[in-house]
Amino acid sequence: MTTPIPLAVLLICLKIDSSSSSSTAEKKNILFIVIDDLRPTLGCYGNNLMSTPNIDQLASKSIRFNNAYVQQAVCGPSRISFLTSRRPDTTHLYDFYSYWRLAAGNFTTLPQHFKENGYFTASVGKVFHPGRASGFTDDYPYSWSIPAYHPPTEKYKMAKVCPGSDGKKHMNLICPVDVSSMPKGTLPDIQSTKHAQKLIKEIVHNKTKPFFLAVGYHKPHIPFKYPKKFLDLYPLSKIKLPADDTLPPGLPSVAWNPWDDIRRRDDVQKLNVSYPYGPIPEYFQKLIIQSYYAATSYMDEQVGHLLSALDENGFAQNTIVSFVGDHGWSLGEHQEWSKFSNFEVAVRVPLMMYVPGLTSKPGPAGTNFPFKDPLRNLKASTSFPFLGKKSAENAYLRWENSQLRTDANHFMRQHERKWRMMQASQENEDLTIRFNHPNISSKKTTPVQTSGWISDALVELVDMFPTYSELAGLSVPGLCPRNSSRVDFCTEGVSLVKILKETVELKKKKGKFGEHGKLAAFSQYPRPSDTPQHNSDLPKLADIKIMGYSMRTTDCRYTEWVSFNHRQFAPNWDEVHARELYFHNSSDGLENHNQAYDKRYHGLVLKLSEKLHQGWRAALPHKYNVN
Ligand SMILES: *[C@@H]1O[C@H](CO)[C@@H](O)[C@H](O)[C@H]1NC(C)=O
Ligand SMILES: *[C@@H]1O[C@H](CO)[C@@H](O)[C@H](O)[C@H]1NC(C)=O
Ligand SMILES: *[C@@H]1O[C@H](CO)[C@@H](O)[C@H](O)[C@H]1NC(C)=O
Ligand SMILES: *[C@@H]1O[C@H](CO)[C@@H](O)[C@H](O)[C@H]1NC(C)=O
Ligand SMILES: *[C@@H]1O[C@H](CO)[C@@H](O)[C@H](O)[C@H]1NC(C)=O
Ligand SMILES: *[C@@H]1O[C@H](CO)[C@@H](O)[C@H](O)[C@H]1NC(C)=O
Repeated sequence: MTTPIPLAVLLICLKIDSSSSSSTAEKKNILFIVIDDLRPTLGCYGNNLMSTPNIDQLASKSIRFNNAYVQQAVCGPSRISFLTSRRPDTTHLYDFYSYWRLAAGNFTTLPQHFKENGYFTASVGKVFHPGRASGFTDDYPYSWSIPAYHPPTEKYKMAKVCPGSDGKKHMNLICPVDVSSMPKGTLPDIQSTKHAQKLIKEIVHNKTKPFFLAVGYHKPHIPFKYPKKFLDLYPLSKIKLPADDTLPPGLPSVAWNPWDDIRRRDDVQKLNVSYPYGPIPEYFQKLIIQSYYAATSYMDEQVGHLLSALDENGFAQNTIVSFVGDHGWSLGEHQEWSKFSNFEVAVRVPLMMYVPGLTSKPGPAGTNFPFKDPLRNLKASTSFPFLGKKSAENAYLRWENSQLRTDANHFMRQHERKWRMMQASQENEDLTIRFNHPNISSKKTTPVQTSGWISDALVELVDMFPTYSELAGLSVPGLCPRNSSRVDFCTEGVSLVKILKETVELKKKKGKFGEHGKLAAFSQYPRPSDTPQHNSDLPKLADIKIMGYSMRTTDCRYTEWVSFNHRQFAPNWDEVHARELYFHNSSDGLENHNQAYDKRYHGLVLKLSEKLHQGWRAALPHKYNVN
């Protein structure tokens, strides 16, 4: 005998319950994707050679920043900077060897802020730089609800697993692999994707919400170890060296990074490259570029699986997706490789934000981020360029062998001959085996989707923390005072939400950002000496004698290398070691003509120098401009 009373009580309970759960449901989740060593070499950033369909799809529903800059072009300092929203002179981290909570101040991190506001926060892969820089715990439990996950096979990072021409395994830079032959039959980023997918399922099952899930992929960081099928996308015939692949004559030696990390690899050691400037032989430069591209497409495949898992589990409607590179990478520009500098190619990164309801109107679950195969434009599954399936088994070994002995042109001729012979013998019978050769593959690369929002505003990665806080409806950190060592919750960036809304609402893709835009973006890089030496790429704190402070305005890049006191974490502006000035507004977007010492620009250099010394505070959007 049911009576109306318990029913009413039940209804009231239901009502209370549903209203409380719907208010939590309104809190947006965050999927924070960070990629190691990724410059904006992506389809959506206009590189038509690249096959990055999943990242391009994300871009088509996001706002994509064309001018996003890191604060220091190396993993540890860059990540600690954007995760605490403070610059290296505040975190006191320029190397990998201190934990900011002990060395600089008990600064609140981006994930910690979400955790303290009731979010479930989890770290998968490389998010914080692991080790001492994050207290040997990836800052758990401050930043994360559960201990950080690292893919177990990352421990083989430096293992000798790359097939070499001598039949042995090496620790090579160039390392396309047969995944099934790898330790545990997998690779770290594949393991991270699987773990993140598992977490997403658990989140559904446990009704854990809201969540902040950070996923950090290792590739395209060196070694270029990736499934070899991705090589098929980038035949060497299509790989071009950068237009500026020689040492710029006016480059101060202090600006140079001698790319020691690359030289240490077995395959590079064999090349006997001269120190510190090189160059690397041209055919090997092409192999590096080819493998950077291939590793990027492999990473895109992982991002695709991750985003489709998010979507299929119904989270595309209420999850903000952030996609960012931790710094850029020189791919032969200025005869340089790696990061470790203040060049545009080292400090500029891809940055995009998918904000459902703002940057895109989400459709039903499963329709927003369908997985796109980066290999889809290949006609058949040849596992090696120029060679059919049958002979693919040993192709890589022979290829590597020929690469090390011959120059690229000779290699091309050899394979062209082989290819013609094979074509002749198969002409009449075999139309199913296709080769990834320009003459055969009739299908052109699908043009990259160019929809989505684009902002040309100058932005810095320290801006992410206040931006995501505002987008999620959390308290937004205020601007840090000049000495913020005792202020746990503050930012040295600004929220980009106004720029985001202005871009979307006014369809203002280009142009001036008025009171919401910064006047400049700031980066810095330390050096132990004026001329390149063994630790120039990555000096330890105690060895830092010089700091290169760099400022990117819409017109130019101005860099000043000055004496630096590593005990006080402070520059001595009166001791200038060298200056660089490149005009991005005329024809020097590649930064090859240092104009700092040209008499014609003396007055301009003085003005830029003054702005640089005033620093980031003086370059904030007008409304923040307080001193
Ligand atoms: C640092 O901040 C965390 C989180 O607010 C707090 O739990 C911890 O006690 C603080 N540590 C120090 C040394 O102040
Ligand atoms: C889900 O619940 C299980 C069992 O309590 C727990 O071990 C797991 O960490 C939870 N996962 C998430 C993502 O909430
Ligand atoms: C490496 O190069 C140096 C100078 O460039 C030369 O003296 C030396 O013989 C070379 N070694 C080999 C193994 O080619
Ligand atoms: C095949 O490609 C080569 C090099 O790109 C070109 O010179 C040649 O004309 C092409 N042949 C045909 C039949 O398209
Ligand atoms: C910043 O403040 C802290 C604590 O008050 C102090 O120990 C430190 O010396 C100050 N740093 C500078 C550069 O003034
Ligand atoms: C480029 O920018 C500089 C610095 O603002 C300015 O002096 C110069 O006139 C500009 N050149 C061009 C071609 O716009």
